[in-house]
Amino acid sequence: RNVKRQTACRNDINRLNAPFLAVFESLIPADEEKVKQKQLLTVLEKLVGKEWPEARLYLYGSCANSFGFSKSDIDVCLAMDLGNVDKSEVLLKLADILQSDNLQNVQALTRARVPVVKLMDPVTGISCDICINNVLAVVNTKLLHDYARIDARLRQLAFIVKHWAKSRGVNVTYQGTLSSYAYVLMCIHFLQQRRPAILPCLQGMEITYFATIDNVECAYFDQVEKLQNYGSRNGESIAQLVWAFFHYWAYCHDYASDVISVRTGSTLSKRAKDWTRRVGNDRHLICIEDPFEVSHDLGRVVDKYSIRVLREEFERAAEIMQHDPNPCVTLFEPY
Ligand code: CTP
Ligand code: MG
Repeated sequence: RNVKRQTACRNDINRLNAPFLAVFESLIPADEEKVKQKQLLTVLEKLVGKEWPEARLYLYGSCANSFGFSKSDIDVCLAMDLGNVDKSEVLLKLADILQSDNLQNVQALTRARVPVVKLMDPVTGISCDICINNVLAVVNTKLLHDYARIDARLRQLAFIVKHWAKSRGVNVTYQGTLSSYAYVLMCIHFLQQRRPAILPCLQGMEITYFATIDNVECAYFDQVEKLQNYGSRNGESIAQLVWAFFHYWAYCHDYASDVISVRTGSTLSKRAKDWTRRVGNDRHLICIEDPFEVSHDLGRVVDKYSIRVLREEFERAAEIMQHDPNPCVTLFEPY
């Protein structure tokens, strides 16, 4: 551990491009799934509009950030002015309204960390979580989506990493491993760091998008159609990038001192962020700065047991990418 290994990438790495792309393709949702999601959103908008005409519904998370697998649930944010009404009360009222309209398994979870109403739509078969005023999540969803439009390799890499994390059981935040959102940020950071860079740092560029949400200023360059050729000077293939991603997290990342930061397109020191010791439940054993809520470390869920699990999984993946004859199978073997 902690020894930086100067291994060179295996010389037959590009033989793995086609099978990795096949894995990616197999996970992409079909167009008709997108149609069904929009259909469900329209149903929900009608129901919500009757009670709260001023309210707006937004999709966020994997159904809207372009990193969603086929057959995933959808995340919806109900944005409204609560006035002095309690959020729980609104959630219960919302559950009532939805219940009476043929939607199934309607449940209001008012005490969850993020309070939600859950439901299943029997017409489309889609399950859905509705939260209230989680507008920062809507904006970070847009940021991820905009990054994905710059270079196709981000979406390919993130799908493969998410699929690996789900197969290996390291995508379970209540067990101390990382969220999908954290893994996508790790992929963006990684592609910002390649030389030549494959992704720019959108928050370091001219501001073309601006919003203030819950006192957090969200500003970045969102005219990404102008950045279509950004990564073209770097010819690395998807197999090389998967290899290098796991190599970085297994052997090169400085867990003791560094914070990865998509916001700055670089790493920061834990010292500068005062993330050097445990505060409450935040242990900062792997540090991933949220691009907008910069006091949020998305690695805060990781504890002293799960950090070992995670690092062993990164090492296992790096070894497989280096030596295994058939990485596209072995990498995703259930744990
Ligand atoms: N989110 C966030 N802060 C976190 C975790 C999540 O703001 N600490 C928001 C992000 O907008 C993210 C969304 O919640 O896109 C959903 O999070 P998550 O379930 O981790 O990601 P998904 O992209 O929905 O992944 P999956 O396909 O695994 O459902
Ligand atoms: Mg999700």
